[in-house]
Amino acid sequence: MTKFIGILSGKGGVAKTTTVVNLGAAMNYFGRDVTLVDGNLSTPHLGIHLGVPIVPISLHDALSGKNSLIEAMYLHQSGMKIIPAGLSLKDLIEVDHSKLKEVLPTLEGLTDIVLVDASAGLSGEASAVLDCVQDVIVITNPELPAVTDALKTVKLAESKGKNVKGIIVAKTGDVTDIPVENIAALIEKPILAIIPFDKSIRQSLIKKDPVIYTNPTSKSALAYKKLAADLIGMEYRVEKNSWYKFWKK
Ligand SMILES: Nc1ncnc2c1ncn2[C@@H]1O[C@H](COP(=O)(O)OP(=O)(O)OP(=O)(O)O)[C@@H](O)[C@H]1O
Ligand SMILES: [Mg+2]
Repeated sequence: MTKFIGILSGKGGVAKTTTVVNLGAAMNYFGRDVTLVDGNLSTPHLGIHLGVPIVPISLHDALSGKNSLIEAMYLHQSGMKIIPAGLSLKDLIEVDHSKLKEVLPTLEGLTDIVLVDASAGLSGEASAVLDCVQDVIVITNPELPAVTDALKTVKLAESKGKNVKGIIVAKTGDVTDIPVENIAALIEKPILAIIPFDKSIRQSLIKKDPVIYTNPTSKSALAYKKLAADLIGMEYRVEKNSWYKFWKK
């Protein structure tokens, strides 16, 4: 059975797409068949993160009925499957978000896990992602506006009968951070992972490849691998930095 997981946040720029890319890559690394879907239909970035910005057939073509969803699916060099959204203004203007819940079930049985990247905000577009998944993971940063929106996202997801698996707190590590325990207490959901602020993420974006491949022993790569292992029920021992291994010899 295919698991459909929506990655939402409310607030923009908190690391949804980064999480979809790296959580997906890590699950794939651990042997799962993973499909990433760009449900951010107005400002899609998934293809850009993975070096496939322009495709002949996109999710928008599947939503308009011009093509099947499978025709919009591409194999990434990592082994993940990716369904990028269209980047044109025409795609943005003509899209009907509500078609997502009709089209996405085509993936049932074709892949183990579908991670759907959502847009910022909680109106029609993000809500359309909620309508086509069973499970939801909410991303926040350790600052009040993001946490407030994360709480609202949890409430919206639950009002639609969705299973909120928990929260990921990303870009942590500053003295001004709201403590993670306070975030958990406020939102009343388990913290699935803490992803530290890490310049390796920016480097991976430049290389258009997941950080688990560009900087495999970076703190963010290790955190994403641990999260992936936890979510698929695998044991994972955090790999030490190579300099540490050298030092121990
Ligand atoms: N752990 C991290 N450390 C440092 N920078 C990060 C980290 N995670 C994400 N970023 C950076 O934060 C910015 C926003 O990340 P991302 O695009 O994944 O957020 P988003 O929630 O998908 O944004 P949007 O709401 O616009 O879709 C990017 O520049 C990304 O490189
Ligand atoms: Mg995004």
